[in-house]
Amino acid sequence: MESNKEGWLLLVELFLILNLPYSLAFVGNENKINTAVFLSPKFVLGPGSVENRFYYNVDFPKGHIAVKSFNAEVIDEAGNPVPLHETYLHHWVVGRYYIREGVEISEFDDHAKFNSSDYISGRNSGICPNLGQFFGLGSETRKTATHVPDPYGIEFGNPAEVPSGFEEQWMLNIHAIDTRGVEDKLGCTECRCDLYNVTVDEHGRPLRPDYKGGLLCCYDRTQCRVKQGFEGIRRTLYLRYTVKWVDMDSSVSPVKIYIFDITDTWKRTPNSTGIKAEHECKVEYDIEPSRATGLADDRYVDNRRISLDMPFGGYLIYGVAHQHSGGIGSALYREDGQVMCSSLPTYGDGEEPGNEAGYIVGMTTCYPQPGAIEISKGETLILESNYSSIRHHTGVMGLFYILVADQLAEPMHTLHTVIQTQDSITPSAIVWALVAMIGLIAVVAVGIHYRFKREKEDGYEAIGM
Ligand SMILES: *[C@@H]1O[C@H](CO)[C@@H](O)[C@H](O)[C@H]1NC(C)=O
Ligand SMILES: *[C@@H]1O[C@H](CO)[C@@H](O)[C@H](O)[C@H]1NC(C)=O
Ligand SMILES: *[C@@H]1O[C@H](CO)[C@@H](O)[C@H](O)[C@H]1NC(C)=O
Ligand SMILES: *[C@@H]1O[C@H](CO)[C@@H](O)[C@H](O)[C@H]1NC(C)=O
Repeated sequence: MESNKEGWLLLVELFLILNLPYSLAFVGNENKINTAVFLSPKFVLGPGSVENRFYYNVDFPKGHIAVKSFNAEVIDEAGNPVPLHETYLHHWVVGRYYIREGVEISEFDDHAKFNSSDYISGRNSGICPNLGQFFGLGSETRKTATHVPDPYGIEFGNPAEVPSGFEEQWMLNIHAIDTRGVEDKLGCTECRCDLYNVTVDEHGRPLRPDYKGGLLCCYDRTQCRVKQGFEGIRRTLYLRYTVKWVDMDSSVSPVKIYIFDITDTWKRTPNSTGIKAEHECKVEYDIEPSRATGLADDRYVDNRRISLDMPFGGYLIYGVAHQHSGGIGSALYREDGQVMCSSLPTYGDGEEPGNEAGYIVGMTTCYPQPGAIEISKGETLILESNYSSIRHHTGVMGLFYILVADQLAEPMHTLHTVIQTQDSITPSAIVWALVAMIGLIAVVAVGIHYRFKREKEDGYEAIGM
């Protein structure tokens, strides 16, 4: 088993040396669970620079499947994980769309250029019109995989749901900020407009004078202020994402994905139905520092709560929140105050990837006993997001992802296990790799020249909360 693992690491490295734009690096199958490791198109970052790109037609398992888990992380050309204090992963997002068969779409196309009769968005089941993704996280990504417990799965590629004459495809958005050598790491990660010297948005429209920071100031190709005299090379990076899935069959119970946002401005009116069109989700908000007058323990807590009427019902299977540095927890309650699911951040206290001091390196997840938490259609829920208000923060987020099953699965159908520590390589992957190896051996020889030395020019510093 161990040697298999080394085998696939070797494969990944081989692909990286070969510099394929993006590729299926590994496919395995064990106990009916398939695993694939994919690389995003490469992106190149220098000190202070920002990439926020949308890639279309990216790799994703094909066929009628049920996804069991999804996880991602940023790696360099040698396949090494890159720490957040060098490359801050603001977010990555994976979304689905349908494209008319025969219409070519390349990874760098902009979907806006497609005739709307050829392109259909295939969003999640949630209520925020602008949060259509199925998977997506930020700095917490290394320790917060979406795992769908058995016997549930997130169904894709159902021929009965793909519009006829269309093909299901996938979009990947990666927003990363290189903070090597910058003057203010937290400020760059919070997209503070003064550090980016930005006064107009991506489309040239002036920003409101009170807009101090957030996504409008750290769009693609912006530059955060770097310490005078700092030199650092531009380097090539990838998002490596791992998908586990099973073939869809009657033993799998499908779950739907909903995303809630603490900045949702929805308010109940006598006429409201709670449907998507009534919701406006601003995604980002700011934390004002407390004036610290009171004596209560929560005087440094920015506590936000909103009410939402559920336009659907079902059984809660899984939940996880997304917060930025400064976040101290998020939860979903029933109207009577009962906690349905809470998700708390963990902060790193070291230097190594997955444990970077001052950054959120994981969010706890909740897996209620299936059946224990039933949500009824029209029920009012409370979403809460807490941040430390010891200092000012810009562009923070308070999202909450939940998986909901329409129907409870029968316990005897619990066939699959998702927690796997070992994986095996299928013969076809080996053959594929051998073909690649033989065909491109010369390139490998060149690649040997190209021993990657990790830069150490940037003195490590933790970001403060
Ligand atoms: C989009 O496609 C439809 C039907 O194929 C066609 O009638 C229409 O002119 C197209 N619009 C554009 C802007 O190309
Ligand atoms: C900031 O932007 C302004 C105008 O966009 C430019 O004149 C100025 O030189 C920039 N400052 C820095 C430090 O880059
Ligand atoms: C609610 O619906 C009633 C009757 O349909 C209508 O007269 C009223 O203007 C609506 N109110 C709002 C706030 O839309
Ligand atoms: C949020 O903060 C409030 C106090 O302001 C506390 O009562 C609540 O339990 C906190 N929620 C979470 C999820 O940590």
